[in-house]
Amino acid sequence: MTSVAITVQRGLAGETPRDETFTVPYSEGMSLLDGLIWIRAHADATLAFRYSCINANSCKECVVSIAGKTEYACTARLTSSAVTVRPLGNKNLIRDLVTDTVPPKEKLGAVTG
Ligand code: FES
Repeated sequence: MTSVAITVQRGLAGETPRDETFTVPYSEGMSLLDGLIWIRAHADATLAFRYSCINANSCKECVVSIAGKTEYACTARLTSSAVTVRPLGNKNLIRDLVTDTVPPKEKLGAVTG
């Protein structure tokens, strides 16, 4: 069986990030999201990433940095070559690949006055 190495940045906001590499079974046409879902189901249930629509490319929740390029994990296709995935660098990190995607001005706050 062919496999692919997926390196994922791990850690909470405020922690020193660390990279973890997972060996994932690979089949042609697999998306990065498929690989991340496999990792969470078979290797590390604590891996945090966001998705909703799976391959419909409509929810936009799965956006991550893949080899330094901003892409949707559900439409980015894996190859048999190793890949590194990181959270978006221009958003506040929450944990692992999850960033705060809500623009600061859209956040609800306590109503005062
Ligand atoms: S999971 Fe919805 S756009 Fe990727």
